[in-house]
Amino acid sequence: MKGILISFEGIDGSGKSTQSKKLYHWLKGKKYPVVYLEEPGGSNLGAKIKKILLYSQEPIEKFSELLLFLAARNQLVKEIILPSLKKGEILILDRFYDSTLAYQGYGRGIDKSLIIKLNRIVTEGITPNLTILLDKGLKSILRSGKDRFENEPISFYQRVKKGYLEIALSNKTRVKTISVRADKNETFQEIKKVVIPCLQKWHRVSF
Ligand code: TYD
Repeated sequence: MKGILISFEGIDGSGKSTQSKKLYHWLKGKKYPVVYLEEPGGSNLGAKIKKILLYSQEPIEKFSELLLFLAARNQLVKEIILPSLKKGEILILDRFYDSTLAYQGYGRGIDKSLIIKLNRIVTEGITPNLTILLDKGLKSILRSGKDRFENEPISFYQRVKKGYLEIALSNKTRVKTISVRADKNETFQEIKKVVIPCLQKWHRVSF
């Protein structure tokens, strides 16, 4: 694989989407071959699955929820991620498999080793070169009630946050935790500090 995969993770409201898009535009401005994708909605099928996952009026069982996220991921990997990595592109992913371990594993209480195995199958063993975990206090968390997840009680998000921190501890080389600052540009400067060495290491690009 010639490409590079950088995933962004964090609880709802951590600023993942803002920062991952910022990174995308920054790299695009430097004329790097960069692609921006989001999970679960990054493929056409994924967008349909996302609507069910976020806005279903009927209750969704936790295993059904897990399998829907995994179906969206498998489609994205086969349809877009693998071909893009083969072309040597830099992929910026707004969420990837750590979200499933954090939300369905720690949050919903599904067996974590099962999730790790299923993640490996649906991703064909692809691992991000770098994962940026945006860490923000639970007070700022998005619980607007807009979708199924934003309706969850704070205790759910406490488990998800703890999950993310444990994932970071057990994947110290891949996962870099960045504390979110009040100023978005300051946070982005911190992100650049971990992204640049990663790109230099994998692509030998200069900045
Ligand atoms: P999110 O990135 O917040 O989408 P948007 O910014 O469009 O609202 O993702 C939607 C929700 O899905 C979010 O609450 C986290 C949840 N999620 C999981 O529970 N498991 C997963 O594997 C993924 C990818 C997301």
